[in-house]
Amino acid sequence: MPPRRMLRAAVIGAGLLGIDLAERLTRSTTLSCALVVGRSSGTAGLRLAARMGCATSTDGIDAVTGSDIDVVFDASNAAAHPAHWAGLAFAGVLLVDLTPSGGGTMVAPTVNGHRAESARHLSLVSCAGQAVLPVLDVVAKHCTPRYVEVVTTVAGASVGRASRCNLDEYIATTEYAVRRLTHAPGAKVLTTISPALPAPAFRAQLTVVVSDIRPEPLRTGVEAVAAAVRTFAPGYEVASWSVADGLIKASVTVTAHGGRLPAYAGNVEIINAAAVLLAERHAAARNE
Ligand SMILES: NC(=O)c1ccc[n+]([C@@H]2O[C@H](COP(=O)([O-])OP(=O)(O)OC[C@H]3O[C@@H](n4cnc5c(N)ncnc54)[C@H](OP(=O)(O)O)[C@@H]3O)[C@@H](O)[C@H]2O)c1
Repeated sequence: MPPRRMLRAAVIGAGLLGIDLAERLTRSTTLSCALVVGRSSGTAGLRLAARMGCATSTDGIDAVTGSDIDVVFDASNAAAHPAHWAGLAFAGVLLVDLTPSGGGTMVAPTVNGHRAESARHLSLVSCAGQAVLPVLDVVAKHCTPRYVEVVTTVAGASVGRASRCNLDEYIATTEYAVRRLTHAPGAKVLTTISPALPAPAFRAQLTVVVSDIRPEPLRTGVEAVAAAVRTFAPGYEVASWSVADGLIKASVTVTAHGGRLPAYAGNVEIINAAAVLLAERHAAARNE
């Protein structure tokens, strides 16, 4: 058997998400961080990436296409993403979109992670999507959701400028993903970027109006999926769960473990851990 080849990865966007991704890639056994692309030279993010041993550039998508890259993580902003896909669509690379642009195949590891093996353009939806879609997938298999409401709280310090600019896309893309997965006629996503100190941990509160509930298999299924998410995001918890009068109420919390993130930044941890896991799955399929 030929030796397994490490795939060369590039990260576009040297902000909160991008630098954490670069650091995760330095720990991967199947992906190497070959390039980090920022917008302006000399930024703190690009300096950090260089200290991690990654090549850096401000030449946009041209830097990626000229660097023999296999996997690209887009952690820039939703408005820039379509141009990144246009530049890479015929390059034979995997493009993993962490912005809420809504392009590509929407994927969450426990829901449809196998799609990473063959797809070329993945959308990670949003941090809220990665937190609630695993639970909603189980709910939709055991009853009929009529309305889904997701209320998230994130610490202000764990949300960069691009995230703040992309709030409308975040809401629209998360609502779309929730509706598509659950077939619920109504879905609403609300969020608070909290300035409180000490910073609150990332939390997503779910309210689902349902019919035809079978509570016991539902609860067992939710416990099983939470354990499955913890295999790649160890701070994932379904912290509260109740079913009564056609209403499911659940609270999902995610804390960050290890690495360079503060514990409250579970929003960054859940989407970045999922992105690297899916890209590693893609790398394994390519090496078969
Ligand atoms: N933070 C979260 O919890 C979270 C979770 C899930 C998804 N997201 C999404 O991830 C993206 C990044 O969020 P963030 O919180 O990391 O924001 P951020 O800290 O502002 O990082 C974005 C970085 O991308 C750079 N950038 C923007 N457009 C670029 C382009 N065309 N080429 C190269 N670099 C570019 C920005 O450069 P400048 O500094 O020069 O503008 C900035 O360094 C957003 O779309 C957000 O919605 C964020």
